[in-house]
Amino acid sequence: MGLFGTKKSMGQVDKANLPSHVAVIMDGNGRWAQKRGLPRSAGHRAGAEMFRRIGTYCKELRIDYLTVYAFSTENWKRPQDEVDGIMRLLKQYLHECIDTMERDRNRLRFLGDLSVLDEETRALICRTDEISARIDGFQANICLNYGGRGEIVHAARAFAADCAAGKYAPDSLSEEGFERYLYSAGLPSPELLIRPGGEKRISNYLLWQCAYSEFYYTDTLWPDFDEREFDKALIAYQSRDRRFGGLSRQ
Ligand code: IPE
Ligand code: IPE
Ligand code: MG
Repeated sequence: MGLFGTKKSMGQVDKANLPSHVAVIMDGNGRWAQKRGLPRSAGHRAGAEMFRRIGTYCKELRIDYLTVYAFSTENWKRPQDEVDGIMRLLKQYLHECIDTMERDRNRLRFLGDLSVLDEETRALICRTDEISARIDGFQANICLNYGGRGEIVHAARAFAADCAAGKYAPDSLSEEGFERYLYSAGLPSPELLIRPGGEKRISNYLLWQCAYSEFYYTDTLWPDFDEREFDKALIAYQSRDRRFGGLSRQ
């Protein structure tokens, strides 16, 4: 309690100390639906809606990048109708983006192995890429058919091919040079990684990029992870002492 009996506030987001890049594992859609006696597909729809809201909120806060895990290379193990439902939702979302992203000045980028997606989806992604290239400002990155190990192997193969073609010598490779072969080339590392949905694992997400990210876990399921929950994650992030192997600033 404060001096006059006012309740001490939980703290506020310091707008001067925001991360530039936030990554989110959008987990818990299925359980959210199950709790309501709804099909899992309803959870994915609610999750997609929350992604729109949190994207808008990040933009308002002037966070530069929001990177979300939408579908992992392991998620193909799910029943076909669930996978089909997620891919249908994705197409709907892409159509919506094509109509609105230029007006709203939202860039969109996809990270992952997109070669296995159907032709229609790949064509829609080409269009969002073209629009994104014309604008600047906030960027949402969607990890789709994404796996961190797969990304590193893909990058290693591409570098090896460049070596075989005589472009580089193997021992000329630096960490920064290797990053240019990752799906995330050109993006800064996320300062904050949020996992709603109660699990405390990385599930093959951004293995290279999260080397020094601050982790925030919560039991709140992704479709319930609203702006207030996002604020809580930011406040937690702002209380961390990021040492990067050095010593504390205090
Ligand atoms: C995350 O929610 C969405 C995807 C993995 C595509 P889940 O579908 O994993 O939801 P839970 O974890 O089963 O509740
Ligand atoms: C991680 O969630 C992948 C996405 C959110 C897209 P999962 O639900 O697939 O992760 P696990 O299976 O619990 O590790
Ligand atoms: Mg899950």
